[in-house]
Amino acid sequence: MTDNTCCVILAAGEGTRMKANKPKVMLEVQLKPMIGWVIDAVKAAGVETMCVVTGHLADKVEAYIPMEIEAARQNERLGTGHAVMCASEFLERNRGKQVLICCGDAPFIDSNTIKQAYEQHIAKGDAVTVISAVIDNPTGYGRMIRNSSGSLLSIVEQKEATEEQKAVREVNSGAYWFDVSKLLSVLAESKLKASGLTGEYYLTDAVELLISSGYGAGAFTAASEDIVIGANTPLQLHELNKLARDKILARHIENGVNMPCTDGIIIGPDVTIGANTTVLPGTMLYGETKIGNDCVIGPNSSAVNCNIGDRVVLNASQARQCVIDDGADIGPFSQIRPNSTIGNDVHIGDFVEVKNSVIGNGTKISHLTYVGDSDVGAGVNFGCGCVTVNYDGVGKARCVIEDDAFIGCNTNLVAPVRVGKGAYTAAGSTIVEDVPENSLGIARQRQIIKPDWALNRFREKK
Ligand code: UD1
Ligand code: CA
Repeated sequence: MTDNTCCVILAAGEGTRMKANKPKVMLEVQLKPMIGWVIDAVKAAGVETMCVVTGHLADKVEAYIPMEIEAARQNERLGTGHAVMCASEFLERNRGKQVLICCGDAPFIDSNTIKQAYEQHIAKGDAVTVISAVIDNPTGYGRMIRNSSGSLLSIVEQKEATEEQKAVREVNSGAYWFDVSKLLSVLAESKLKASGLTGEYYLTDAVELLISSGYGAGAFTAASEDIVIGANTPLQLHELNKLARDKILARHIENGVNMPCTDGIIIGPDVTIGANTTVLPGTMLYGETKIGNDCVIGPNSSAVNCNIGDRVVLNASQARQCVIDDGADIGPFSQIRPNSTIGNDVHIGDFVEVKNSVIGNGTKISHLTYVGDSDVGAGVNFGCGCVTVNYDGVGKARCVIEDDAFIGCNTNLVAPVRVGKGAYTAAGSTIVEDVPENSLGIARQRQIIKPDWALNRFREKK
């Protein structure tokens, strides 16, 4: 499929009805931008050469799409037909292929529908195959107009439709397969005319133009009506979120993930979770997050772009862009920040923050501690209230804490500094020099005792 196909995704629209401060296609469904859903479905169908038409807040869309996908700018929003014309340079380069054109605001187009429509498109040799669906409430969509023998004649937009046409429940999904050369032949502005009603160039008019040029036009009716649902209003986006959430949670439950109550659980579409893992209420898992078997994640936890092993506990804690190995036990109320690796069976307790650090196997950081920019070995014990002082107001430096070291309570380790293997720091020390292997580093004043000081103070006051 790859060699003979390419794809144009329309994503220039403003979506004024969404009242959003970002491009409509960047609005998220279950924490993933709609255009991300579309790109992944296209990729999963085996179509690799893609071009996204951007316009409204184009920079934001272009920053999000993967490097290998090109962008074409549409500087004025003159309709879907005009948007495709803006990709004409891309289409010229792909003459001789078949192009999938789809909308960046209809996230549930899926790879099977794309593939099956392509097979029909090739088998019938049509110039265009429109992917359609029959839906209960067709309001707002383009209607599929067929003749008495069922052949496709045209697509009529809601605004242009007669009452009789409005009654048609088969609608255009906004996704189509076109023969690139034939599409280019009708796209020229002289052929595709702007609508007298809206001034927009409708891509849907290309269907009628192809038919009148003597080419074949077909429709592939998708099995599920979900594939057409676009987000044109905030409430439609809400519906998409509900639908996506139900589907994703059902998939994990079927896979043996245990969710005794799904309240407040949001799981992005790209998250994988192993069997016998429990996800508890109030938990958000998204990005490219992988979670192994037999974990307990939640309540009230989040993991974004994390790689989490087996038997991990993440209790009321947050993790971002990090690796958490088997058997680690984290929380409550801790935060694992980007570029951290938490080793096997590490214990991280309450109010601990770890950033850009490696924590070796079996290390314990139980309470009220900050570990930033540090390389911590295995079997290390941090007492309560320790701080790696990694920032001097200008630059950051690293601390190295070797295997089996013991960091006494309320130690400050002023980076760069090294605590050797098996070394101790005394409670309350501010360590600014390396502590050699197996040594004790004390960096605080010796205690002095003033006998009866309190009694004397009391007398003076009288
Ligand atoms: C379009 C179809 C309609 C179909 C529906 C399915 C046309 C004329 N109508 O209508 O038949 O049922 O999709 O969702 O094609 N866009 C641009 N540039 C523009 C205008 C739009 O890039 O100038 C992009 C939008 O960002 C969006 C997509 O094209 O991703 C569809 O545009 P939209 O205005 O939402 O079209 P619909 O009215 O939904
Ligand atoms: Ca739309």
